[in-house]
Amino acid sequence: MDALTRRSFICGGAALAALAAMPAVAATGVKTLKNGKTTINLAANKALAEVGGVLELPIKKYGKVAVVRTSKGVKGFSVFNLSCPHAGVIVKRSAEGWVCSPPGHGSEFLLNGKLKVPPANSDLKAIKFSANSKTLTID
Ligand code: FES
Repeated sequence: MDALTRRSFICGGAALAALAAMPAVAATGVKTLKNGKTTINLAANKALAEVGGVLELPIKKYGKVAVVRTSKGVKGFSVFNLSCPHAGVIVKRSAEGWVCSPPGHGSEFLLNGKLKVPPANSDLKAIKFSANSKTLTID
């Protein structure tokens, strides 16, 4: 590996680590529609412009929800409920994803909500959504 490649590798690794540690940000530009769906204005939520960006928001019919940018694609998001599937404790951001801290029992989840460490035995519950270049709509 030459010096430039090694530098690129190190910088790239640092960038990924920084993304993983990005804190969740409160949402703005959120509307609840008459049909019960929730829209999020993407331009008003800069956290979702970068892969690894996280937005947390309360939605009446789901409770606390996270929106995570998982890729640069127009539909590159994961939306899921932050209630732990083990016993319902709200998970919190950790350096690498989500953790169910006391009074929870220590389950850990990847940033996209996938189960990493039990005792939970399933992912954080995914929520249906649609997205275009301007708006993400949560069903
Ligand atoms: S409630 Fe989350 S691990 Fe038990």
